[in-house]
Amino acid sequence: MIRFLILSLVLFSLQCKGNISDSEKEKQAVSLIGEMQKELLTNLTESIQTKGIEASITHCSKISPELENKLSHSGWNIKRISQKNRNPHHFPDVRQLAVLKQWETVLQEGKKPEVFISKEGSSFLVMKPILLAPNCVVCHGNDTEIDSKVRSKILEIYPNDKAIGYKTGDLRGAFVAEFKE
Ligand code: HEC
Repeated sequence: MIRFLILSLVLFSLQCKGNISDSEKEKQAVSLIGEMQKELLTNLTESIQTKGIEASITHCSKISPELENKLSHSGWNIKRISQKNRNPHHFPDVRQLAVLKQWETVLQEGKKPEVFISKEGSSFLVMKPILLAPNCVVCHGNDTEIDSKVRSKILEIYPNDKAIGYKTGDLRGAFVAEFKE
């Protein structure tokens, strides 16, 4: 009897993982992306105020991968991506690249890019656009906006950095929540 109960419990828990409904997955994705966004923003603002821009590069280079690891669990992979990536792990795959390209077209038409949701079998992909805000240019703008010391620090940690030359309102990339069983 006990064995039967244990077996039923194991089967039930396996089923639970496989049977998360699409609307539940969507809710989880939105909440995980929201947490990532909130934590990054709070951390960055606080770090810039207390330590300055240059030291915040190091801070961001630690906190961003830490958050990705913390939030990626139970089948979810949470990260940020960009066509012009700073962190080498943030280059989009073919499907994500297609969404970014589509958003660029939407922006060129003067419209706002919307959250993208796609489902294939049991896998699930949610992407939220990231547009550049005025306070981002100190680390992602042009030569006159990024201090030379800040630029050196960026290149020290990310020798292949491509994430500069952005203007306010540009599509910087996306938050990605991907679910695979
Ligand atoms: C203090 C400098 C600094 C500021 C200010 C800053 N960033 Fe970044 N940004 C970084 C660093 C460093 C990374 C690489 C983090 C990592 O290794 O994951 C990064 C990575 C990113 C990424 C992930 C894709 C990639 O290229 O690796 C996005 C998207 C991004 N930043 C958007 C923004 C936006 C939007 C703002 C303004 C709200 C902003 N950043 C402000 C330093 C900064």
